[in-house]
Amino acid sequence: MTRRRAAALAAPLVVAALLGLAAAALLGFAGPAAAAPSTADSALNARSNDACFRCHGQQEARDQTIVVDGQQKSLFVDRTVYEASRHGKLSCTSCHIGFKPGSHDAGQTQAWLVTAKLTACNNCHADVFDMYRGSFHGNLVFGESSGKAPVCADCHEAHNIMPPDSAEFRAGIDGLCARCHADALRTYLDSYHGKAFYLGDAQTAVCSDCHGGHRILPPSDPESMVSPQNLVSTCAQCHPGANENFAGFMVHVDPQNPSSSFVVWTFYALYIMLIAVVFTFGFVHTALYIYRGIKDGLYRRDRHG
Ligand code: HEC
Ligand code: HEC
Ligand code: HEC
Ligand code: HEC
Ligand code: HEC
Ligand code: HEC
Ligand code: HEC
Repeated sequence: MTRRRAAALAAPLVVAALLGLAAAALLGFAGPAAAAPSTADSALNARSNDACFRCHGQQEARDQTIVVDGQQKSLFVDRTVYEASRHGKLSCTSCHIGFKPGSHDAGQTQAWLVTAKLTACNNCHADVFDMYRGSFHGNLVFGESSGKAPVCADCHEAHNIMPPDSAEFRAGIDGLCARCHADALRTYLDSYHGKAFYLGDAQTAVCSDCHGGHRILPPSDPESMVSPQNLVSTCAQCHPGANENFAGFMVHVDPQNPSSSFVVWTFYALYIMLIAVVFTFGFVHTALYIYRGIKDGLYRRDRHG
């Protein structure tokens, strides 16, 4: 290689390195972070997420935890998982608004959780956000500032956003709702759809097929997908030709609770009584049979051989 060619190659590298340093300085790699080498490459790409992954993508970050919403959370964010998700190309700061690489000062981190879990989503998914705001859950959050209802990132995993129609996401929906609606899950799993779901049927109805994901309303609200007015069309999504009679099929029925459905409870009670009678009869019959056998010497050794 001639000197001229080497110099020609070196020049852009030097420029790149200088640009890199300048970019790093602008982005505030201050204090201890400045010691970390900013190769020309990563600095030029500093608008990507490299700067955040430099700390949060390190293996050591796995063991470092902070308390988020009362729970211990690891500082580690899995780059492979993140980049394979639907948000793979999104910059971290689109949800962590105002965060800069380097040590995060209190001003930046104040109230970051609500922003990241709820309000930031509004910047890009305003349609969904509005639907959610009008729902029963949304009303609890915005109307009563209740911490009991789920917000966006409670149902969509923060760093692993999946397409909601994917098999993986659908398979987890029952668990999402069950965190707060254990009774509804129990009765659902007893129903036809629930049993099919449990056996891995991907086509069967899950919670959100009947209730929606965002505009969830109580059955008494005429706009609810499960109100008497809308139920037929909700079932007809998958059961073309469904009529009122078909939609009368009970999804959440607890046979042990008379106030859930008196008819079903009555049949359940009769059924349990029938089983009790049959077993009692069988037991008494067998006991008398053995007693008779003993009396007649049926089980004595000297009877054989
Ligand atoms: C120099 C290493 C470093 C870099 C670079 C870095 N972080 Fe952090 N981050 C930390 C540490 C350490 C914590 C633990 C709490 C603290 O010190 O604020 C943290 C905490 C956080 C938290 C939780 C907030 C809290 O304190 O409760 C979020 C969110 C976060 N970082 C996002 C980011 C984003 C987004 C980027 C990129 C713009 C980034 N971090 C870059 C080191 C870093
Ligand atoms: C779609 C919005 C969104 C994006 C994009 C996003 N985050 Fe987060 N992040 C969240 C939410 C929501 C939480 C709180 C999750 C929870 O409850 O633990 C969070 C929590 C964190 C935490 C605190 C630890 C934890 O798990 O709670 C760190 C650190 C963090 N994010 C870093 C990053 C980094 C680095 C990136 C970019 C690679 C990123 N985030 C991209 C929404 C996002
Ligand atoms: C109670 C759980 C739950 C909450 C809370 C929730 N989602 Fe969803 N989300 C779902 C389910 C289930 C689906 C798939 C079914 C559907 O489309 O309704 C979905 C689908 C989506 C989709 C893709 C389909 C579409 O309708 O565009 C986006 C985007 C989305 N959610 C964003 C959000 C945002 C933003 C928020 C907060 C305002 C949010 N979600 C709150 C459960 C939830
Ligand atoms: C900076 C913009 C931005 C922010 C902020 C953002 N998203 Fe997204 N989101 C997108 C883009 C872009 C896509 C890619 C696919 C599309 O919708 O066309 C997407 C996709 C999704 C999907 C998958 C939709 C599908 O049909 O596959 C869900 C679910 C989702 N986002 C939920 C959220 C939630 C929850 C938050 C807040 C925690 C959030 N997003 C914050 C831009 C954003
Ligand atoms: C973080 C907890 C939480 C999660 C997760 C959650 N909900 Fe709720 N939900 C509530 C609370 C709290 C209420 C209001 C109190 C009540 O009636 O139970 C409510 C109310 C409802 C109602 C109206 C209840 C009524 O009595 O008429 C329906 C329907 C509902 N949720 C369905 C769902 C579905 C479907 C999912 C999953 C996609 C879900 N919820 C996930 C907390 C949650
Ligand atoms: C096949 C449709 C369907 C599926 C699947 C379904 N539901 Fe329902 N759900 C209904 C109907 C219809 C009602 C109103 C009548 C009733 O209470 O039985 C209802 C009522 C509810 C209520 C209000 C109960 C009350 O007594 O006010 C909650 C909460 C609920 N469902 C949660 C869930 C959850 C959680 C799942 C998933 C585990 C689920 N549902 C699956 C159709 C469905
Ligand atoms: C997301 C699609 C979906 C929705 C919505 C749905 N179902 Fe189903 N349902 C199925 C599938 C799939 C089967 C299983 C059919 C089969 O393969 O045997 C099924 C089976 C059934 C069965 C037993 C078998 C049969 O075909 O008679 C009944 C009863 C039933 N559904 C009632 C309802 C009612 C009532 C509603 C509305 C409240 C409803 N379903 C909503 C998908 C759905």
